[in-house]
This record gives sequence, C-alpha cells and structure tokens, in this order.
Amino acid sequence: MKVGVMASGRGSNFQAIIDSIASGESPDVEIAQLVVNKSNAYAVKRAKKNKIKCNYVDSAAITREEFDKEVIKIMEASEVEIIVLAGFMRILSPLFIKKYKNKILNIHPSLLPSFPGANAHKDALQYGAKISGCTVHLVDENIDSGPIIMQASVEINENESEESLSKKILFHEHKLLPKALQLMCSNKISLEGRQVIITAD
Ligand code: GRF
Repeated sequence: MKVGVMASGRGSNFQAIIDSIASGESPDVEIAQLVVNKSNAYAVKRAKKNKIKCNYVDSAAITREEFDKEVIKIMEASEVEIIVLAGFMRILSPLFIKKYKNKILNIHPSLLPSFPGANAHKDALQYGAKISGCTVHLVDENIDSGPIIMQASVEINENESEESLSKKILFHEHKLLPKALQLMCSNKISLEGRQVIITAD
C-alpha cells in the first residue's frame, strides 16, 4: 500500500520505516512520498539517499488550510492511501483529517492520554510519572487523541533527564511505528467505536 510520510525534522522514525521495508519486515508498505514543512529537515537527506520522492511545502508562508490542500495535491499525485506523521510538528486542519479519515497514523512519545502535546518528555518528568513510553494512534480532529493502535512503556528512573528519557522512548518508537504501519497496510486494523481491533495472522 502506498504511504505518504510527513516530517519536520530529524526523521529517525521515517528511517525506521525505510529500514523495516529493506529488511522484509514490512512487505505491504511502500513509501511513495515524503512531505516536509521545514526546508532543513534532515528527513529530506534520508529521502534522497533512498530515492524517495520528497516535496517541501513552506508552512510558515500560508494558512493551515492552504498548506493542507497543497499536501493533499502532492499525496494524490503519488497515489498515497495512508499517511504517517513521523515527527510532523504541525496541526492538521479538519479538511485534511476528513480526507484521510482513519488513514493517518501518528507516533507520540508518551503513553496517551497522558502528556499529549509538544513537550511530552518534559511534562512526564515534571509530573513525576514513574512510567512513560510511546503511542501509535490514528489521528482525529483533536491533538494526540485518536484511537490507540499500539503502546510500549519504559521506566522513568530517579535521575532521568529529558535527553535520556527521549532516547529510551525513541528505541521503542522505531519498533512500534513500522509494526503498526505494516498492520495498517495489510488491512489488519479495524475500528469498533474508538477500540482498535487487530486481526491476527
Ligand atoms: C519523536 O519523538 C516522535 O515521537 C515525535 O517527534 C519525534 C520525532 O523524531 N512525534 P524523528 O524526527 O522521527 O527522529
């Protein structure tokens, strides 16, 4: 199934998907397109290296809806069916969410519904949580609130820093996101209300 990835920065989750396809673990996933909203996003270099189509749309210069319409055009031209937000640091408009209803995956570095938003690691540490982790979920109209597909947990130690926590969680993100995407692309994911049902092999 053709997948369009959206990223804003480093793109290590994007790389994890590329690697998982290369190793044969994601036979039903084909990355057809990368879209970035930052011209200096390192994800662009990863796309080039792997000969993946990449477009930059400057989100600073246009409205949210204009940006989303532009991205839809690009994704349609590449016949994308599933969207993955891999470190994409921008809220999508209802227009975009409707267009790809239950077809957008996001990876978030906390155990949702705890600590949504852009500062998940900091928020978990400040709150004094003893466990955190990451969540792959479907994207709905609200921030980090859609149906949960998969989660993995890590312990927060006494001397944990934002950096060490983020490193620990990232290790799991790189496993979880490709796994959830493969399930999605092999039609093994369905919804009952907000419960995600995963069909066994
Ligand atoms: C990850 O921690 C992801 O959970 C969050 O943003 C970060 C992106 O990292 N949404 P990368 O760009 O994939 O390396």
